Amino acid sequence: MWDKFSGFFQLSLADRLSLLQRFCNISTEEMAVLQDSRGLPISQADRMVENVIGTFPYPFGVALNFRVNARDHIVPMVIEESSVIAAASKAAKIALKNGGFTAQAPRSLTIGQVQLIKIPDETLARDAILKNKNEILAIANVCDPVLAQLGGGAVNLEIRSIQGSMGPMLVVHLLVDTKDAMGANAVNTMVEAISPRLESLSGGEACLRILSNLAIHRVVTASAVFGKELLGGAEVIERFLWSCDFAEHDPFRAVTHNKGILNGIVAVAQATGNDTRAIEAGAHAFAAYEHGYRPLTRYEKTEQGDLRGEIKIPLAVGRVGGITSIHPLAKVAWKILNVSNVTEFQEILAAVGLAQNFAAVLALVTEGIQKGHMKLHATNIALTAGATSDEANHIVPQLIREGQISVTRAQQLLEAMRKNAR
Ligand code: MEV
Repeated sequence: MWDKFSGFFQLSLADRLSLLQRFCNISTEEMAVLQDSRGLPISQADRMVENVIGTFPYPFGVALNFRVNARDHIVPMVIEESSVIAAASKAAKIALKNGGFTAQAPRSLTIGQVQLIKIPDETLARDAILKNKNEILAIANVCDPVLAQLGGGAVNLEIRSIQGSMGPMLVVHLLVDTKDAMGANAVNTMVEAISPRLESLSGGEACLRILSNLAIHRVVTASAVFGKELLGGAEVIERFLWSCDFAEHDPFRAVTHNKGILNGIVAVAQATGNDTRAIEAGAHAFAAYEHGYRPLTRYEKTEQGDLRGEIKIPLAVGRVGGITSIHPLAKVAWKILNVSNVTEFQEILAAVGLAQNFAAVLALVTEGIQKGHMKLHATNIALTAGATSDEANHIVPQLIREGQISVTRAQQLLEAMRKNAR
């Protein structure tokens, strides 16, 4: 289908929308939501958080060319940073030549923690909790009968000992299969429900009861082969691998490398109404979990001389729950993305993360990223300098030509232009 989208970025906004409408079966009402710059009714926003004074729209775009596990997806993205959507689409197009992305997501096992303090005898407490494991799981599962009916719910518990500065503590991990949901509400309700029983079994006191964002059981893998002929040759691949080696050995670089991955993933999460902070917290913690802070992608040269990339990233996201199915724009985003369950969604997210990282590093080891940023960046600078849209159209080419994209220079050009016009 992707040949129908060739030159998408050059179409007018109206033509882009009508092409999308045809492919994604978007209704007239949904089109109206997309085109309304407010997107979210203020009355609905007022029910979502406290002290509402308005809504804050962001650009909503689509990344193209994504084939994940042999299925094509148009990927909705909400992001303010220029070049991200274009870069993801470009990387996906390169991967498409070799069949796109292969990805696997595990069952949605989420960790809820109960911190038990002031325990008289840790060994006795551990034994008592483990002996009564089934009863504790049953207490948890009463909290969410729907989840249990769907085949999810609390499935296991683990106990960890931690020696803190204030004294020893036992930490109980409740493992909950949250199915298609991100699961924060279900898990938080469950850990609160089981803590009185944990207190009576351990003889201690329950302090914190909350989900952990280090989602080690929700690690998604995606990989793709990027053909050498589309990368500019062996020298580019060698520089690419040098840059990955840098990220492997330097946390200052690794965190920026990982930020590039999250540029893509967070934009899709935002469009679909997911909790972006949970994703970012989980990704960075996972990057530092075992051997110091590391990059979340790895690359190697294949026997054919192409570049194979792989990402491993925890993705605690939902296809249902939270605002995923009530935010009017998120509903349109899901329709565009066209996935039936959270597994498929996670697999696409991981593919987007890999694509985004590949595109960023490729740009960095070749022309640098500023060239791609220039036009939109220069426009933003011109607007910051006080230009109207028309005035910006006039001064942006000169800012780019001169390579001096600053508010001061934009103000000088603007003043000169206005003087001439008088
Ligand atoms: C910018 O938002 C993201 C990059 O810094 C990522 C990277 O350096 O790999 C370009």
